[in-house]
Amino acid sequence: MSSDNLEKAQAEGKYIRKVRSFVKREGRLTKGQAAALERSWPTMGLTHNQGLLNLTEVFGREAPTVLEIGFGMGRSLVAMAKAAPEKNFIGIEVHRPGVGACLLEAEAAEVSNLRVYEHDAVEVLADCIADGSLATVQVFFPDPWHKKRHHKRRLIQPEFVDLLRKKLAIGGVLHLATDWQNYAEHMLEVMQAAPQWRNLSADNTYVPRPEERPLTKFEQRGERLGHGVWDLKFERIA
Ligand SMILES: C[S@@+](CC[C@H](N)C(=O)[O-])C[C@H]1O[C@@H](n2cnc3c(N)ncnc32)[C@H](O)[C@@H]1O
Repeated sequence: MSSDNLEKAQAEGKYIRKVRSFVKREGRLTKGQAAALERSWPTMGLTHNQGLLNLTEVFGREAPTVLEIGFGMGRSLVAMAKAAPEKNFIGIEVHRPGVGACLLEAEAAEVSNLRVYEHDAVEVLADCIADGSLATVQVFFPDPWHKKRHHKRRLIQPEFVDLLRKKLAIGGVLHLATDWQNYAEHMLEVMQAAPQWRNLSADNTYVPRPEERPLTKFEQRGERLGHGVWDLKFERIA
């Protein structure tokens, strides 16, 4: 966007995101991923330019909806969708091979309660998800952006969690997990300062690893390296 257009959009009050939480990698699709995208995108793919979603139409039923941001290769998302057929699942990921891998996995698991976006979650949340429509939002092992000068790229920031709160129904839960202690502390600080949330932790810090969260590749790697894992759960109270 030219600087003139950017200024005009800002003057009109449009939401322009300048700092992204990811750097688009040009990963190659495997044959299997490409084939799964071809086969299953028509039934499972959602696009940002479809605009606001009607969840009842998309899933053909009324059911609680879980949204996962940055699902990576989709392993844990598919496992969760398989384990909870009574719920709807929506995954958002920017990395195309990850989306292909997720569809491949979903085909093998024969899940029909899962839809995916290949797009920036910030834009999908703002433009496609109705306020108050989600039961759960989960963000597992988001990129930690280790260097201090990159911390502004971290997904979990006050403005973003407020957007997430609006998309959750009252009583809905935001579930975060990370294996990077400094990011865990940052998440806790952001969530404790954010209004209208209740920490579901008994001691107002982290929750024990919840049963419904399958082990991800990143967590297994962290375990091998002797890292800890921190889970946070906050409920929208207003
Ligand atoms: C460190 S990986 C973790 C993947 C997965 N959750 C896991 O635990 O294995 C973080 C993922 O978030 C994705 N991501 C980062 N920012 C995103 C955004 N704004 N919208 C959608 N996906 C994003 C990245 O492409 C990457 O695949």
